[in-house]
Amino acid sequence: MKIQMRNLTLLLFVLLSSQLTSVFSWKKDEFRNCNQTPFCKRARNRNPGFCTLEAHDVSISAGELTAKLSPKKSHQDNPDQQDEDQVKPLILSLSVFQDGIVRLKIDEDPKLDPPKKRFEVPEVILPEFLNKKIWLQRHSTETIGGDNSPSSIVYVADGYEAVLRHDPFEVYVREKGGNRVVSLNSHGLFDFEQLRVKKEGDDWEERFKGHTDTRPYGPQSISFDVSFYGSDFVYGIPEHASSLALKPTKGPGVEESEPYRLFNLDVFEYIHDSPFGLYGSIPFMISHGKYRGTSGFFWLNAAEMQIDVLGSGWNADSGISLPSSQSRIDTLWMSEAGIVDAFFFVGPKPKDVVRQYTTVTGTPAMPQLFAAGYHQCRWNYRDEEDVENVDSKFDEHDIPYDVLWLDIEHTDGKKYFTWDPVLFPHPEEMQRKLAAKGRHMVTIVDPHIKRDESFHLHKEATQKGYYVKDASGNDYDGWCWPGSSSYPDMLNEEIRSWWADKFSFGNYVGSTPSLYIWNDMNEPSVFNGPEVTMPRDALHEGGVEHRELHNAYGYYFHMASTEGLLKRGDGKDRPFVLSRALFAGSQRHGAIWTGDNTADWDHLRVSVPMILTLGLTGISFAGADVGGFFGNPEPGLWVRWYQLGAFYPFFRGHAHQDTKRREPWLFGERNTELVRDAIHMRYMLLPYFYTLFREANVSGVPVIRPLWMEFPSDEATFSNDEAFMVGSSLLVQGVYTERAKHVSVYLPGKESWYDLRTGEVFKGGKTHKLEVSEESVPAFQRAGTIIPRKDRFRRSSTQMTNDPYTLVIALNSTQEAEGELYVDDGKSFEFAKGAYIHRRFTFSDGLLTSISIPPTSPGKARFSSECIIERIILIGYSVKPKTALIEPSNQKVEIELGPLLVKPRGGSAVTTVRKPNIPIAGDWTIKIL
Ligand code: GLC
Repeated sequence: MKIQMRNLTLLLFVLLSSQLTSVFSWKKDEFRNCNQTPFCKRARNRNPGFCTLEAHDVSISAGELTAKLSPKKSHQDNPDQQDEDQVKPLILSLSVFQDGIVRLKIDEDPKLDPPKKRFEVPEVILPEFLNKKIWLQRHSTETIGGDNSPSSIVYVADGYEAVLRHDPFEVYVREKGGNRVVSLNSHGLFDFEQLRVKKEGDDWEERFKGHTDTRPYGPQSISFDVSFYGSDFVYGIPEHASSLALKPTKGPGVEESEPYRLFNLDVFEYIHDSPFGLYGSIPFMISHGKYRGTSGFFWLNAAEMQIDVLGSGWNADSGISLPSSQSRIDTLWMSEAGIVDAFFFVGPKPKDVVRQYTTVTGTPAMPQLFAAGYHQCRWNYRDEEDVENVDSKFDEHDIPYDVLWLDIEHTDGKKYFTWDPVLFPHPEEMQRKLAAKGRHMVTIVDPHIKRDESFHLHKEATQKGYYVKDASGNDYDGWCWPGSSSYPDMLNEEIRSWWADKFSFGNYVGSTPSLYIWNDMNEPSVFNGPEVTMPRDALHEGGVEHRELHNAYGYYFHMASTEGLLKRGDGKDRPFVLSRALFAGSQRHGAIWTGDNTADWDHLRVSVPMILTLGLTGISFAGADVGGFFGNPEPGLWVRWYQLGAFYPFFRGHAHQDTKRREPWLFGERNTELVRDAIHMRYMLLPYFYTLFREANVSGVPVIRPLWMEFPSDEATFSNDEAFMVGSSLLVQGVYTERAKHVSVYLPGKESWYDLRTGEVFKGGKTHKLEVSEESVPAFQRAGTIIPRKDRFRRSSTQMTNDPYTLVIALNSTQEAEGELYVDDGKSFEFAKGAYIHRRFTFSDGLLTSISIPPTSPGKARFSSECIIERIILIGYSVKPKTALIEPSNQKVEIELGPLLVKPRGGSAVTTVRKPNIPIAGDWTIKIL
């Protein structure tokens, strides 16, 4: 009987999936474009100078500059403006925060009884950020240019001021002498549709592809222009599969495209170059230019957003002229709902902007060490036997890995937190076997709950009234993997806490401490919903419409799951939760991957700008499915993907269930060897990666970075998105074509670069045409850096804990170098109390010195390690030394000269200090004599 039921389910599933495939193959027409989206169409068609608002009643109150915004009387006959009787003054407040951050809020005045409170996105801004407010005491006034009325000016930071221009209304940040940095409404495109009471004859409904959005509150969109000065390129606003430097979407000579859309969607087979919105949204844009440096603008708003990057000359006929600047990039921001809650970041360096942004939204969580290793996933590992086989094959083939993943088929009928009783009858034992080798498991937990009366989670959520409601107030019922499903209202804190409790070992039967979580489909994905998601008029707690928070639904879900793992272990261990949907601040909750890519070269290539963009916007722990999710990669592509993916911050192989099996040993001996080497390279570099994860955790600076973040004045790097930096010491260049013989690599800066494998030296500030090797993608260590490694190969990262280190010192033209190493217990939160080792190594005048970096978070906890440094490799050392003298132990050790790095391949000469065996935890020096 059971078997028959299974067959029936299988048959239904096959029928359903074939239907889904035909419904959801990437078809442009299934999704709204700007013209089909009334708020976008309205805003995009406005002309510069449309806005007639002026600021008045300007004063300082509660440490902020406040004002009212009202239309000027003479302009109220503009037919596109709202009716006079409906327009009420808006309230504006401008506040300043430490470190060059300005916040601008504009909303309807609650004292004037708007029909509804507009939605402000909760739980994204760090509470600590609010303590950084600089309490403004006064403002000065100045009459700018030919203005009729004065502007109000407040202090921002050394050398920076914020200006509120009253008439015409404009806000900007400028350098003290006058040069503008970022401005809002300089082109008069600001518009704020105020909520109003429906009058007879008003038709507010919107229809798309058979779906009707009832829009009970009518139009409520907001739009405005933002300009970046001294800007050569703008970046950010993920998530799109497109170039790192954002392309103009509109303007003379520009091939007009859709605006960049921010609307979290589950897009089947997304294409590799499009402004179309994917699974996540971060409304944060970064500008960078050779002369002025870097600045940023963030709009905290979770409704659908569309952003145009305007090509120069777009406003030629408007008659509006702005003060001259080396170069300026104008952009147009449009959102369906919410309020203006915008942040200006002054920079001026790339790392400053990222730090400023993460001061507001938080720095990336520190992952456990294991999460920085390699993850093996597939939809699906069939059963316990399959898991055991895959696991043991890694050992047989001498390939390390840390985590084995189970996709939706491991559950009992797509009911999350359960196990298929036939395929996975002994989940605890299965996890324990992995854990015995220091390995972990991840299972998938999606937000759609199967509407099955016998499912306790569904019963409970229904009884407690925890589901999102449809427009008529019933539990919203949508179609997803389990069929008919409902979605917990993750905006509500009580519901998040209820959800978090489901991860306890008692509630999640069959889970053990080595089990971690994967959140998918949390855009949310609804197969039969408008644009494959939840209707905008669905309702959340407090009458909040789904349209107002759509882009943050997945964020709250991710947050609740992470909270669950914290609660499960009494807050001792760092959680790991991977999420597909994302919003500003997701970096605090866990890792992100770029969803369902395809096994082709274009998707391999676009993975780099996608991950770099996520990093620039706070989300450092990101990766793409290695090998490509859809389709079967041919071996050449598959190998190149591993070679590149080994440098992604999140490194996971994954594949669709219809693809051929592709575990690392299935492509013949030579390819297994190549992939083994790529994974080994990742494991050797784990100490370096982990140090970078900590840097991101402290400062927000991402693990992998665009070249211009390290070389901000080198224009040749500004639009390079085929290569990237891993930290400040490594440069990696992907190989993106089949059977490539050569690849061009631009190596920035004045110093040289050393090939990571051979030690071969290359000049900086030059493009090199290199023969590509089958063995790796080109990767180089920058001269002047020191990289810590662990060179012994184990089964998993956890088994490397006590292994000795190797330091690789790449000397620059003055025979100097420096680097860092961060180590902690790899697991707990003790590091936050000071339990870690953080060393700085410097090499100068033939002397290598190790000193402790003072703690960033002072605390009494301590971490000790017996680990030693077993080898020091110097590359590019011009002296031929004989011995090395270690102090304070006053001990002499051997030196070896030879062409050796990873593999002897005739690379440049290296000097190796053998077995110095000095503790990583101590202060010491080594004189190379
Ligand atoms: C979605 C995910 C994919 C997963 C599949 C089944 O398509 O993006 O990674 O394998 O669902 O859960």
